[in-house]
Amino acid sequence: MDEKARALTAAKTAAGFRAADMVEDGNVIGLGTGSTVFYMIERLSARIREEGLKVSGVPTSYQTAIRAREYGIPVVTLDDYPSIDLAIDGADEVDPHLFLIKGRGAALLREKCVAAAAFRFIVVADGQKVVPRLRAPVPVEILPFAVTPVLAQLRGLGCKPVIREGVRKDGPVITDNGNFIADCTFDSIADPALLEAEIARIAGVLGSGLFTGFADKTTVIIGNEKECRIISSADIIP
Ligand code: A5P
Repeated sequence: MDEKARALTAAKTAAGFRAADMVEDGNVIGLGTGSTVFYMIERLSARIREEGLKVSGVPTSYQTAIRAREYGIPVVTLDDYPSIDLAIDGADEVDPHLFLIKGRGAALLREKCVAAAAFRFIVVADGQKVVPRLRAPVPVEILPFAVTPVLAQLRGLGCKPVIREGVRKDGPVITDNGNFIADCTFDSIADPALLEAEIARIAGVLGSGLFTGFADKTTVIIGNEKECRIISSADIIP
């Protein structure tokens, strides 16, 4: 592993471990998806084994459900717990308003449902994810039945949508919910909340990776090799 990769792993580990240490006995936790959340699961599992911590988790993807079971975290659903104590998840970009772009792993729809159900939303990220303005392609989950009209309407919002292709699978990525993902590149995202609402209004869109509705309950843990930086809604500059 080269020095850059080692530092990135250390940052993700620090953020994930810090988030797992915020979990309290009896909590029901939303278990996000991705490489940073993986370290949170690892640490949570250790706390269950070593401290006898009693928790359960709502996974946001098949990947996380499989990992949670492997690591001895009891798995529950939003049917069991329509509201949960906290959700812990990664992000692809975080801006100064604590607006996010998520969905690199195509789990954005369940991630948004779980974040919405949570009393607190804890985002774990490395420093590379913190940006002055959101600019990454916005993943949009699309009902395959409506893909052509949806793509036309997304183009009408000023982006270039590209249907995400599988790796070691021919053709489009099929999400855990049976849908397609379009990665939508905008020249600039002036108003992320407005854009999230405009995308959500398109019939056939199930959800986008723009997360602008949770800033009030969000805490971002930015991992670092030495210590984590914590940003919460109180730190937002209006
Ligand atoms: C999953 O679809 C994503 O939203 C991830 O939570 C996000 O891409 C962060 O993943 P990493 O922690 O692997 O960067």
